[in-house]
Amino acid sequence: MSARLDQTDKKMSLDVLILAAGLGTRMKSRVAKVLHQLGGRPLIAHVCRVAAGLDPNRIFVVVGHQAKEVQAAVEHELTERPAVFVAQTEQRGTGDAVMAARSSLGEAESTVMILSGDVPMVRADTLRALIAKHSADQAACTMLTVRLENPAGYGRVVRDDDGGFAKIVEQRDATEEERQLREINAGIYCFDRRKLFAALERVQPTNSQGEFYLTDAPGILRNDGETVSIYEHQDAREVSGINTRPELAEFENLLRRRTIRRLMIEGGVTFIDPSHSYISDEAQIGPDCIIHPNVHVEGKSAIGEGCEIYQGARIRNSRLGNRVTVKDHCLIVDSVIADDCAVGPFAHLRMNAQMEERAVVGNFVEVKKSRIGSGTKAMHLTYLGDATIGKNTNIGAGTVTCNYDGQHKHPTVIEDNVRIGSDTMLVAPVTVGSGSVTAAGSVVTKDVPPDTMVAGVPAKVKKKISKDSKS
Ligand code: UD1
Ligand code: CA
Repeated sequence: MSARLDQTDKKMSLDVLILAAGLGTRMKSRVAKVLHQLGGRPLIAHVCRVAAGLDPNRIFVVVGHQAKEVQAAVEHELTERPAVFVAQTEQRGTGDAVMAARSSLGEAESTVMILSGDVPMVRADTLRALIAKHSADQAACTMLTVRLENPAGYGRVVRDDDGGFAKIVEQRDATEEERQLREINAGIYCFDRRKLFAALERVQPTNSQGEFYLTDAPGILRNDGETVSIYEHQDAREVSGINTRPELAEFENLLRRRTIRRLMIEGGVTFIDPSHSYISDEAQIGPDCIIHPNVHVEGKSAIGEGCEIYQGARIRNSRLGNRVTVKDHCLIVDSVIADDCAVGPFAHLRMNAQMEERAVVGNFVEVKKSRIGSGTKAMHLTYLGDATIGKNTNIGAGTVTCNYDGQHKHPTVIEDNVRIGSDTMLVAPVTVGSGSVTAAGSVVTKDVPPDTMVAGVPAKVKKKISKDSKS
């Protein structure tokens, strides 16, 4: 009794092994299945994140098809705890994939949790429950199963007369009777490391696909008199695999609906049409924001409180403060917008465009790698690239920072309280001093001192502006 308690109490070291070497023929794609995107992130990234959430000893990823790309996707996700990659050069089945990891896993006593790179929605809590059952039962193997209305395509779980585990049969190898079974193998397991490999050594590719099936291992263990447990999970969708494009689209929808529901219920966000709103599950949106139809908020964007985002806007990896208005059809990428700013319609901010409080960027304005000071306005048809613009400045319609000389990019500086006249060309590098004015149609090729008016092509000083003449 006490020996038994000792064993269950002892925390067995946990390794996670993710299978991601297959191409996924049913996707009809040149791109490996686990690289297809769900919610803006590759499938494999979802699985890696959940795995990391379990805080395992190590995470192994079996790669094969497009190994380099899959590896890059994993590395991008697991920055804090690098995964160990295992190459499976020829894809001879899930059993072979696990076998490929044998020497990397080593000989130490451990629990190996096996996950599939194409089952992206599974939650860490579910996996913890599986691990708990596995150690409570002191099993050689514990598999996660669910019951499906339509189990087509999955491996079926056959139970013995006492309701215990008997074997798994793959769809293609199942008898008509077995195909009627609704309980399926989710492809998520815990194994005793030593017993796993002892069983896999005996797996034969004697099935319709001529593959080494991992799913034969539990049956082998069971026939050896080992304990094979079943953890039956209730939420079938959570552990469903993605094998086809319709399934991928279905999951995308599911994820989107979940995110939007959470934002409405917990976040106090208004969606005019939730079914036509596209918000990444990593994005944050503050209370009392109003999101119009066909808005996309991607990546780790963060939007403050009380913002209104009109239709057709796409906001990617950007930060918006409070009470920001984004009018119709704007593209905002890798940029930062402070409180009370307005953007659009039809504006494009990119490469660390920054807007300080109350700045306005209007119709058909592109801002690249530029800072726009508080209260400054660029309302119409303007390109601002590599520019630093001060406070309360007005950029006239059709202004262009000519930042590129064919070889290099050059900076433009426009200081506070400047009025840039319509159709001004600012040939960089150039600085316009505070309080200065450029007349309409100026081509500014030389620095303009403060409080000076310039005009012409090229622009020449017309007059000094006295403090009293300014209102
Ligand atoms: C597998 C299970 C099936 C289960 C289903 C759950 C087997 C034989 N069948 O079927 O019982 O119901 O998952 O989703 O295991 N992979 C490799 N190398 C290979 C083959 C596959 O790394 O040689 C990887 C794939 O990239 C994928 C995972 O293993 O991530 C599962 O492979 P897949 O072909 O999708 O198996 P299923 O037919 O779905
Ligand atoms: Ca699958």
